[in-house]
Amino acid sequence: MGRIVMKWGGGLISDKSSLCSAENERIQHLADCVKRLSEMGHDIVIVHGAGSFGHIRAREYRLDEGNINGLDQTEGINLVRSDMDQLHNLVIKSLHPLSVMSHRPRDFVINTGPDFQGNIERFLLPGIHITFGDVVDCDEPLDFGILSGDDLMLRLSTELPDVSHAIFAMGGTPGLMTSADSSGELIPLWNKNMPFSGHHSEDVDVTGGIFLKVNRADVISQYVEHVWLMDGEHTSRIIEIVEQGHTVGTRVVTA
Ligand code: IPE
Repeated sequence: MGRIVMKWGGGLISDKSSLCSAENERIQHLADCVKRLSEMGHDIVIVHGAGSFGHIRAREYRLDEGNINGLDQTEGINLVRSDMDQLHNLVIKSLHPLSVMSHRPRDFVINTGPDFQGNIERFLLPGIHITFGDVVDCDEPLDFGILSGDDLMLRLSTELPDVSHAIFAMGGTPGLMTSADSSGELIPLWNKNMPFSGHHSEDVDVTGGIFLKVNRADVISQYVEHVWLMDGEHTSRIIEIVEQGHTVGTRVVTA
């Protein structure tokens, strides 16, 4: 049984417009889906995003820019970290009675982006692992920054052995679309030479939004057979990907 690495997008598991508001029902459906995959014998790594538990305050305190001279950002770092702990605990609770291994990036990662330093061997033990986008320490002069869950997806999917699936469960879209308006159609099979429509709300998101996700999915597809961007509100589609190899969503393949 292959290892499944999945991202629960912040826009899926929280209401992005309202500070620290969790979408509890969606979290529970995703957790129930993980329980099924675990019963099937898969090892699973869950990476969850931040949504309104991270982006709003990170932007307010400009944490994504690192240490800014003359600005006291310590309060912001502490607030975002404790808000992320709150969301993380909700996710862990939803998985009860499964026992899970939790890895807070601030405890083992230095620096942000796809080349962050951190030993991911801690994800090798059989079972279910959970991690998330977080405020991590960085080398000077930045001192700290925001590590996106999409960069964790990249490293975990490409460096852990036996990864059969990398699944990005998103909110509000069935996958990649040809255009953002009502004439937009789902792109079932996508490679990096193909266009797609995406909108990045730079005023809200401190990480790269859909463009970061798509870029990371493309890199992962060079290593992993099943890479998908799909609507995480329909968790039966995750099961379909694993059991049947196809579903409603966008499968990302190498060009
Ligand atoms: C962002 O992580 C982490 C913080 C803002 C603290 P992600 O980039 O993985 O979050 P989402 O999925 O966009 O919410």
